[in-house]
Amino acid sequence: MNMEEKLILPNHLAIILDGNGRWAKKRGMPRSYGHIVGTDNLEKMCDVISDMGIKYLTVYAFSTENWKRAQDEVALLMNLFRKYLRRCEKKAIRNHMRVRIIGDPSALAPDLQDEIREVEEVSKDYDRMFFQIAINYGGRDEIERAVTKLADDARKGVLPEGRVTGEIFERYLDTAGIPDPDLMIRTSGEQRISNFLLWQMAYTEYYFTDVAWPDFHKEELLEAIREYDRRNRRFGDAK
Ligand code: IPE
Ligand code: IPE
Ligand code: MG
Repeated sequence: MNMEEKLILPNHLAIILDGNGRWAKKRGMPRSYGHIVGTDNLEKMCDVISDMGIKYLTVYAFSTENWKRAQDEVALLMNLFRKYLRRCEKKAIRNHMRVRIIGDPSALAPDLQDEIREVEEVSKDYDRMFFQIAINYGGRDEIERAVTKLADDARKGVLPEGRVTGEIFERYLDTAGIPDPDLMIRTSGEQRISNFLLWQMAYTEYYFTDVAWPDFHKEELLEAIREYDRRNRRFGDAK
């Protein structure tokens, strides 16, 4: 951002990291190469986003549907998450960033679950930035799990009588306490949300770009934020 460019920033930015496989194929490389470069890009973009002053970042890394992919691709992604989470822990400490994993960890390998617990525990008191990584996440799955816990509490009698308001319901979501996303970016051309943050993105601005995730750098992000800024100035409250 140059000095004279004063943009309205989203408080919470959500990104569907898409297009790694196609990006690699286009270069005559295996899909795995796209995932490796995509993971490196996430690490770099996390710093860019933090430096811009965006407070909340949530990224979609692996959906509940992604288990249907080829076994070796799933295994590679899980290995990348292991390595990534370790690096992320160091970054969390350096940048005072709180890291949380959203989704259902119970289907993940035990050592990956340990890694998740560790990064969450180490970073739990940081508040300079809040970084959520969605792994084995599905919006419908999250809602099912939330309703199950809520019904459980209702049986135990710990829920207030009467209507279950949105405010009560949200306490049971993986994103409890995290404000809704203001801007959602999906890279690589598809214009759907693929089961991401279904409840939370009711009023989010959507931005779709043809640029694949491994090529999505600071300039592309600024383009998305400029568009967000324009929409806010046009339709938002007087700012
Ligand atoms: C995004 O890239 C990463 C994950 C979903 C894990 P894809 O793997 O979906 O790449 P494309 O969309 O097939 O190109
Ligand atoms: C959405 O991308 C999920 C992630 C980026 C983790 P997909 O590539 O899996 O979604 P579809 O299959 O195109 O809807
Ligand atoms: Mg995809």
